[in-house]
Amino acid sequence: MPRRLFVTTALPYANGSFHIGHIMEYIQADIWVRFQRMQGNEVHFVCADDAHGAPIMLKAESEGITPQQLVARIAAERPQYLDGFHVSFDHWHSTDSPENVELSQDIYRKLRAAGLISTRTIEQFYDPVKGMFLPDRYIKGECPKCGAKDQYGDSCEVCGAVYAPTELKNPYSTITGATPVMRQSEHYFFSLSDPRCVAFLQGWALEGRLQPEVANKAREWLEGSTDEDGTKTGGLADWDISRDAPYFGIPIPDAPGKYFYVWLDAPIGYLASLKANCAKRGLDFASFVAPDADVEQVHFIGKDIIYFHTLFWPAMLKFAGYKVPDRVNVHGFITVSGEKMSKSRGTGLSPLRYLELGMNPEWLRYYLAAKLNARVEDIDFNPEDFVARVNSDLVGKLVNIASRCAGFLVKRFDGRLAALDHGAHEGFARPWAGPEAVAALYEQREYGKALREIMQFADAVNQHIDAEKPWDLAKDPARTADLHRCCSTALRAFRDLVLLLTPVLPAMAERVRGFMNLPALDWAALAEPLPEGHRIEAYQHLMTRVDPKQLDALFDAPAATAAPAPATASAKAAASKPATPATPATPAPAPEGTISIDEFAKVDLRIARIVSAETVAGSDKLLKLVLDAGEGRTRTVFSGIRKWHAPETLAGRLTVMVVNLAPRKMKFGLSEGMVLAASFPDDGGGVFLLDPQDGAQPGMKVR
Ligand code: MSP
Ligand code: ZN
Repeated sequence: MPRRLFVTTALPYANGSFHIGHIMEYIQADIWVRFQRMQGNEVHFVCADDAHGAPIMLKAESEGITPQQLVARIAAERPQYLDGFHVSFDHWHSTDSPENVELSQDIYRKLRAAGLISTRTIEQFYDPVKGMFLPDRYIKGECPKCGAKDQYGDSCEVCGAVYAPTELKNPYSTITGATPVMRQSEHYFFSLSDPRCVAFLQGWALEGRLQPEVANKAREWLEGSTDEDGTKTGGLADWDISRDAPYFGIPIPDAPGKYFYVWLDAPIGYLASLKANCAKRGLDFASFVAPDADVEQVHFIGKDIIYFHTLFWPAMLKFAGYKVPDRVNVHGFITVSGEKMSKSRGTGLSPLRYLELGMNPEWLRYYLAAKLNARVEDIDFNPEDFVARVNSDLVGKLVNIASRCAGFLVKRFDGRLAALDHGAHEGFARPWAGPEAVAALYEQREYGKALREIMQFADAVNQHIDAEKPWDLAKDPARTADLHRCCSTALRAFRDLVLLLTPVLPAMAERVRGFMNLPALDWAALAEPLPEGHRIEAYQHLMTRVDPKQLDALFDAPAATAAPAPATASAKAAASKPATPATPATPAPAPEGTISIDEFAKVDLRIARIVSAETVAGSDKLLKLVLDAGEGRTRTVFSGIRKWHAPETLAGRLTVMVVNLAPRKMKFGLSEGMVLAASFPDDGGGVFLLDPQDGAQPGMKVR
């Protein structure tokens, strides 16, 4: 009986482009999904943009667009990444959709009917200038322990103290710079502490559907923990699910001015996407989500969002009368050369640049698969390791089999396979665990182990070819039959290797299917060796080696080199041999005023966000700007732009600033840098503050 699978990956926030962490998650899930499809299982693999929440609302506002426009712009970028890395979602949706509004409100109403919603008045920081309650991440101030300035509302980066935002000294709103005030508001809560929820979750989380380390976490959260001195803390607390207007989210029924907190409607977005997918394909959505539905619901997520997926989400579904998840598969984080991803800078490995350089997406799929396992472990992308692994396994072991044998078969034997060589065929079965074991490893997400088994099989095939030496056999007319047998054996094995690797290398498998005239790429075919007389077409080039220079280009700071990086995939050829700037034999003397690249590089230009802008009493020229250049603190700059800019139009905007200018003591205070603006020498025609292109973030270097 084929299984029916509903598979998702975490819904990425729609305020930024994909980074390598997202792509890794999609590749992990896609390999599993493709494997399941090869087994003949029915898979519905969906995702969506996580559109709601304060950060998206504020980012859109700072760009002068609506949140919907911001989400649409990000959504428009998605396909080039997903297609580029062969990620085979059946549907991509948005949490800002009619399906999600309907489902979220429905689930909420059912939870309320079950007696699991309560209200309580809480006190929270409020920005009186902006007119909104401030999420913790938008509050900064002085550390209550050590007095360090510009610390976030939860912990101090200087002394490590942990505290509540209300404990900060001289707190300010990072949105407007205003001093926040405490204000009361009624909030809605989901009663996670209700004994029914606790009892349900104890069963759901601890009955073997989670990885051991994830189940342990869930147990800690459910049971609370006991400190060394024996004090018990924790247990489940009720969950605050409401936010006050202004908020980009879904209205709470019967609660004017209240919206669902983004983490309530985000996972419901899984169902919204499934629902849209069902509509697209004429499937009955109810048959997927009914409590007793004969469907396996599988979520792939990263380790940072376990709490939401192992407590809130199953409890919400359970008590709203929906099917609960069967598995939550948690992966670790990807680092690049041992470095963590930074929120503002991402990593050195831009997935888009990878594609633009014409690098083969299946190299990355294979490399990540070789590192992935079923545990919650971080994995590292290491450039040297990448080159070595891909070149040795994929080109040296796999492609090499076909490229050494297919030509002889086509030229000398009309492409037809000789009778099966039982001895060789059985010999190949010995050095590795076999297709069933590999299937079990894919099923368990032990991709690294699966690939090691497959490569042992490939090693055996290569050894066979090396021993038989078809290139020598081809020279001896008396040994034509041996040549035919040897090449047929190698190609039969190659077909098996490609089937085993199809979940990881779908595009290459498709090309092999073409030239080898294979009926389909399904797992069941592994049980039957290709028959005598099966005909293959001329060998098609399958994969090139990674050129280490491509890795240099990938990690090069994009704009720092003299030769601009090729911008499109069609620049493939250029990418493999980086253009060297044409240097004349005898350089002409530099015109006066010319500076060297090193001199230019001395000016440290950064993208900065204008946190606040205000007029300066006693000056009709100056505005006082508070700027965030991604340094974990803000800077004050006095800028002579008052005549051309109303301060209220500047807050939230991004611009370019010089951060290594010597600070200047002015009558009004210390100016710690300079913002850049365009004008003619006499300022005739106006003064225009520089805007970076969309997507730039505070802290990025301008070079
Ligand atoms: N919007 C939420 C998820 C809502 S799911 C109902 C979110 N979005 S995210 O864009 O920040 O992250 C999306 C996924 O990417 C998460 O599973 C997260 O763990 C994963 N990753 C983010 N950084 C990562 C790495 N460095 N490495 C691997 N995965 C990482 O969280
Ligand atoms: Zn401190």
